[in-house]
Amino acid sequence: SLKALIGPSILNSDLSRLYEESQKLLDNGADYLHLDVMDGHFVPNLTLGHPVVKCLRNKIKDVFFETHMMVSNPEQWIVPMADAGVNQYTFHIEPVDNVAEVCRKIRENGMKVGLAIKPGTPVTEVEKYISMSDMVLIMTVEPGFGGQKFMENQMAKVKYLRGQYPLLDIEVDGGVGPATIGCCANAGANMIVSGTAVIGAADQAATIRSLRDTVQQ
Ligand code: DX5
Ligand code: ZN
Repeated sequence: SLKALIGPSILNSDLSRLYEESQKLLDNGADYLHLDVMDGHFVPNLTLGHPVVKCLRNKIKDVFFETHMMVSNPEQWIVPMADAGVNQYTFHIEPVDNVAEVCRKIRENGMKVGLAIKPGTPVTEVEKYISMSDMVLIMTVEPGFGGQKFMENQMAKVKYLRGQYPLLDIEVDGGVGPATIGCCANAGANMIVSGTAVIGAADQAATIRSLRDTVQQ
């Protein structure tokens, strides 16, 4: 059966201490790291790129790195991110003309393929590419910032995909935490991104454990 995996987002962590913050999340039980890459074009925010990821990988080996590419031209960064040691390259299909080609190039460079859609994008848009991908990310906030309010109406997409594809890895991202994990679990998500709720938690280990236990049930 599918594993419940918790992949905290480091976006709202103290980025001046990205390594320490990342290591702390892993020490507290995180299964993988969700690295939010923003280019200031696809979303009105700017974060980190492959040079930073490469340095982080030099210090943190053997941990699954997923980059969430909120960029206008995801094809441009495939090789640099693969070189930086990324394991899964999750990109938004909205700005891409030839999704199949991007999927092929990601796999050609040894990474797993994640397909992401914004709240306004119908789930049918991503369905046609499921056979060439490893995971679907259903955004539960408008991409660009951490700390936003969870959009419960996105659960219909998760439910639909889980119903059609029982073994598909389905990730939710945005406003996910102890207060909203229940409906994510009920809808069938198994890969959980949580930023603010985990980064700011009084007890990160307990929070990560409770997120996983809720999904695994
Ligand atoms: C938003 C990012 C999310 C965000 C999650 O564009 O893709 O990963 O950082 O953070 P929270 O959990 O605080 O919404
Ligand atoms: Zn993200």
